[in-house]
Amino acid sequence: MGLSLKWKTRKSASSSIFIPCFSGLMEDLCFLTKDSLVIKTPKKSPLTLRMVVLAFAAVCGVYICSICLEQISTQTKAKFIGIEVLNQSCHSSGVEELEIPYLHYPKPKTFSRKECVCNPVRFFAILSVQRSGSGWFETLLNSHINVSSNGEIFSVRDRRSNVSSILKTMDKVYNLDWFTSASKNECSAAIGFKWMLNQGLMENHKEIVDYFKERKVSAIFLFRRNLLRRMISVIANSYDKDAKLLNGTHKSHVHSLVEARILAKYKPKLNDTLLIPELKQTEDTAAKAIEYFKSTRHIVLYYEDIVNNRTKLKDVQEFLRLPYRDLQSRQVRIHTAPLSKQVENWDDVEKKLTGTLYESFLHQDQQV
Ligand SMILES: *[C@@H]1O[C@H](CO)[C@@H](O)[C@H](O)[C@H]1NC(C)=O
Ligand SMILES: *[C@@H]1O[C@H](CO)[C@@H](O)[C@H](O)[C@H]1NC(C)=O
Ligand SMILES: *[C@@H]1O[C@H](CO)[C@@H](O)[C@H](O)[C@H]1NC(C)=O
Ligand SMILES: *[C@@H]1O[C@H](CO)[C@@H](O)[C@H](O)[C@H]1NC(C)=O
Ligand SMILES: *[C@@H]1O[C@H](CO)[C@@H](O)[C@H](O)[C@H]1NC(C)=O
Ligand SMILES: *[C@@H]1O[C@H](CO)[C@@H](O)[C@H](O)[C@H]1NC(C)=O
Repeated sequence: MGLSLKWKTRKSASSSIFIPCFSGLMEDLCFLTKDSLVIKTPKKSPLTLRMVVLAFAAVCGVYICSICLEQISTQTKAKFIGIEVLNQSCHSSGVEELEIPYLHYPKPKTFSRKECVCNPVRFFAILSVQRSGSGWFETLLNSHINVSSNGEIFSVRDRRSNVSSILKTMDKVYNLDWFTSASKNECSAAIGFKWMLNQGLMENHKEIVDYFKERKVSAIFLFRRNLLRRMISVIANSYDKDAKLLNGTHKSHVHSLVEARILAKYKPKLNDTLLIPELKQTEDTAAKAIEYFKSTRHIVLYYEDIVNNRTKLKDVQEFLRLPYRDLQSRQVRIHTAPLSKQVENWDDVEKKLTGTLYESFLHQDQQV
C-alpha cells in the first residue's frame, strides 16, 4: 500500500510539476512569437519603405544570380583550359607573371621530349641582313646546349612564297618538328632560326609581327655598324660564288686562317656612284625593320659590339632567359686587314665618303 501510495504521490507530484512547466514554455513561445511579429510588421509601415525593401531584395537577388552565373562560366572555362593544361601539367614555378606567356611546352609530332617534356621553351628569331656576322652569331648560340637555331630556313623560296607558307613553316619550327643539324630537340630551352630581311620579312611584316606577338616570339636584331665593311664582304662573297677560290668550292664562312687568307686576297673595286645610295639603303632598311617590330619583344645587337665585348653574349642569354654558358664558335673572320688594304680603289672611296655621314666607316679599323 505504502508503496503504491508512494508511487501515486510521485506521479501526481511529477505531473503537477510538468504541467506548469509546459504551460510556462507555451507562454514563453507565444510571447516570443508575438514579440517578433510586432517587430517585423510595424502597423504604420509606409508604402515607400516597403518598396525600398522590395527593391533591395530584388537587387540582391539579381546580384547573387549574376555571381552564380559567373562562377559557372569560369568553371566551364577552367575545364576547357584544364584539358590542355592538365595533360601538360607543366607549371612554371618561380617565374614572374609577365614571363609566363613566353614559356611554351611544345608537343612535337615527330618525337617525344621525354624527361624534358616540362622544360619550358622560348621562341626567338634572329633578324639580320647578309654579311653581318649572323652566321657566326648563330654558331655561338648553337654552342649552347639548350639552344637550337635552325639556320636560314627562308632562303628556300617556296617557304616564303606567301604568308600562309611562312606561318606554316614557323609553326613547324616552333613545334620542334623542324630538323637541321642544329636541332637539339628534347632539351631545347630556346628554339629559333635566322631570317634575312630580304627573305619575305619586310613584305609580310604585318602578319609576321602579329604572329610574333601572338606566339610570343622574341626578335633578336643583328646588324653591323660599319656598313662599308659589310659592303666589301657582300661583294667578295658574291665574287666567290663564281670564282670559288677555295679549291673550286664556294664558302661563305670559313673555319681556318688559311682559308680566310685566301678569300681575303680578293680586293673588290667599289662603284663610287652607288656607294652612298647603297649605304643609305642598308641603313634605312634596318631602321625600318626595327620600327616594324618595335611592338614585339626584341633586342638590337651589333656585330662589332659582340666582337669587342663578349659580355654582350651574356645579354643575349639573359634575353632568352638561358642558363649562362661560355659560347664558342669555330668560325674565323675573313677580312681582318685594314679597310684601305681591302679595296682596290681606296682613294676614290675615301674621297667619296669624307665629309659625309659615313666618314666614320673609314676610320673604324682599330675596333674591328
Ligand atoms: C593526355 O595524354 C594522353 C597520352 O598522350 C592521352 O591518352 C589522353 O587522352 C590525354 N588526356 C587529355 C585530357 O587530353
Ligand atoms: C603558298 O605557297 C605554297 C608553296 O609555294 C603553295 O603550295 C600554296 O598553294 C600557296 N598558297 C596560297 C594561298 O597561295
Ligand atoms: C639543358 O639541356 C640539358 C641537357 O640536355 C638538360 O638536362 C637541361 O634540363 C636543359 N636546361 C634547360 C633550362 O632546359
Ligand atoms: C686544296 O686541296 C689540296 C689538295 O687536296 C689541299 O692540300 C689543300 O689544303 C686544299 N686547300 C684548301 C684551302 O682547302
Ligand atoms: C656604277 O653604277 C652605275 C649604276 O648602276 C653604272 O651606270 C656605272 O657604270 C657604274 N660604274 C662603274 C665604274 O662600274
Ligand atoms: C660590355 O658589355 C656589357 C653588357 O652589355 C656592358 O655592361 C659593358 O659596359 C661593356 N663593356 C665595354 C668595355 O664596353
